[in-house]
Amino acid sequence: MAEPAFLFVCLGNICRSPLAEAAFRAAARAAGVAAFADSAGTGGWHAGEAPDRRSIAVAAKHGIDIRGLRARQVARSDFARFDHILALDSQNLADLRRIAPAGSRARLRLLLDVVPGWEGRAVDDPYYGGPEGFDRTWDEVRAAADRLVEELVQTR
Ligand code: 4NP
Repeated sequence: MAEPAFLFVCLGNICRSPLAEAAFRAAARAAGVAAFADSAGTGGWHAGEAPDRRSIAVAAKHGIDIRGLRARQVARSDFARFDHILALDSQNLADLRRIAPAGSRARLRLLLDVVPGWEGRAVDDPYYGGPEGFDRTWDEVRAAADRLVEELVQTR
């Protein structure tokens, strides 16, 4: 069986979803689980850019270098390429539902729905706040990444 593919989607693909992608990739590697990870934005304004320097800093704090990631806009073809698409907030989820091709195979969920007790919660956009907002983002995406990897381990 091919390794399962996970796509993390926020608005700009420079703050939240690169951290979700990185946290998931690290958790999968630590658990010895094969999985493909990528991220994208519902908007295309930052396409081609590296992550926000505050996201780079928080990832570095946790030993992960995300400087090489580049933003891209989500595409309808992603619904065929990915097994799982995780939206960081409910607006991202609504936008993804709107562009999802009929009968797409990807399982589309709100990211924090995978964390028991955090169902329905958003990973709020830290873009306009201070650096502490990025620590909170990390804690949230890290918890979700661990749960997603647990799901993979259980179905292995
Ligand atoms: P992200 O944060 O969706 O977590 O990447 C944002 C970054 C930039 C903008 C919006 C959200 N922006 O509008 O420029």
